[in-house]
Amino acid sequence: MSDAATLNFQGKSIELPTFVGSENEVAVDIQELRNKTGMITFDDGYGNTGSCLSSITYIDGDAGILRYRGYPIEQLAEESTFVETAYLIVFGELPSAAELQRFRGQLTAHQFLHENLRHHYDGFPPNAHPMAILSAMINAASCFQPALMKLDDDESFTSQAARLMSQVRTIAAASYKKSIGEPMMYPRSDLRYTANFLHLLFSKPYAEYDPDPDVVRALDQIFILHADHEQNCSTSTVRMVGSSQANLWASVSAGVCALWGPLHGGANQAVIEMLTEIHKSGVKPEEFIARVKAKDSKARLMGFGHRVYKNFDPRAKILKAACDKVLNKLGVHDPLLDIAKKLEETALRDDYFVERKLYPNVDFYSGIIMRAIGIPLNMFTVLFAIGRIPGWIANWREVHLNPKARIYRPRQIYTGPTKRDYLPIGKRAT
Ligand code: SDX
Repeated sequence: MSDAATLNFQGKSIELPTFVGSENEVAVDIQELRNKTGMITFDDGYGNTGSCLSSITYIDGDAGILRYRGYPIEQLAEESTFVETAYLIVFGELPSAAELQRFRGQLTAHQFLHENLRHHYDGFPPNAHPMAILSAMINAASCFQPALMKLDDDESFTSQAARLMSQVRTIAAASYKKSIGEPMMYPRSDLRYTANFLHLLFSKPYAEYDPDPDVVRALDQIFILHADHEQNCSTSTVRMVGSSQANLWASVSAGVCALWGPLHGGANQAVIEMLTEIHKSGVKPEEFIARVKAKDSKARLMGFGHRVYKNFDPRAKILKAACDKVLNKLGVHDPLLDIAKKLEETALRDDYFVERKLYPNVDFYSGIIMRAIGIPLNMFTVLFAIGRIPGWIANWREVHLNPKARIYRPRQIYTGPTKRDYLPIGKRAT
């Protein structure tokens, strides 16, 4: 235990215990603050508040470090696969060959949707956003899982985790097929996770999609890079919902909705929209940066900035390198990539961005790769969600397994009207 923190207020002084995490982060434990002082803390946006203890992912925003269960993201992106990384994140250790084989088998066994689910897509308009469909269909799929409601043994949890991770691909691809009026494809048992997803997206009943191995590897790497990220908005949402003992699928469905926002997972779509607008309008990157900096500007350099990273997002570095590799392999020249690089170069030497420690984040380059692969723009955040499923599952499980688990229920400081009496309508101002 490290030293206690002392809080002095209105002549009173109280000691608050502190403790240190495994990476030497120090926290003041305020769980007794209100009992001892009647006061609460205030931290709009939770920038200084630890909501939980977690052993899944560690980020050092100043040093640009990201590790899943202690393994550096650079090594996992280079050496691992998404399925192996998902196993690590969910179960805490890298799998043995036998464990990995068994997990792959469970993903394959659970990849088919109940046939009745296919009719649900008829209820969505063709232009429905795939994130709305994804969230709705995850909950719809859970209706076919009665076992879901009692996830207290490891076996049923593992089976449900594999089912969710596997079916989210089939659900996502089906929404794309429906939107373009093509028949939904069935998953193939001879394809691995990411190749199977590309098959579901791009194969037709009369023409199998034959993915380039480098494309499969690039998309698998994108999933690895998105697999977890501490208590980001959507993961905190999954934990919040899970803390009420809502089931895994309902909690993840809520996480999908939180991820959709353009300040969060929706940023990968917003980056491409921004780059496309710059390209179409012919505005120079320097001019766009000047607009972003303008005093009352609402414009943001999407894909830049991060609540935690005050240095390079390590994922952005990996994705930038992957962009060049994939586009060269596919023989694609995308003017948006040139614009992105020019924006980055301009921003990184501009005081506005340097002073605010704004660097490219995971969303700045990921969309360029997805575009080159042929992923439609409105599916970009869906792919972010597919990648984040293991992190959501692991965080939900951490809440579920906590022996001291309590429902998440923050307090507030009330700033509304003080007590006043009801006024019959005839006596109110007209
Ligand atoms: C993800 O949390 C996670 O881990 C998320 C994520 C994950 O893996 O789960 O990493 C994924 O969501 C990445 C972020 C994707 N979002 C974007 O790229 C949208 C653009 N960036 C932002 O809007 C912003 O940077 C956030 C939302 C990411 C972070 O916002 P904060 O921490 O609340 O910072 P802020 O809005 O308080 O900004 C501080 C200052 C402000 O200027 P001043 O008021 O001091 O003058 O920086 C400015 C902001 O205006 N600023 C930007 C900017 N981001 C912040 N100015 C221009 N362009 C930007 N992108």
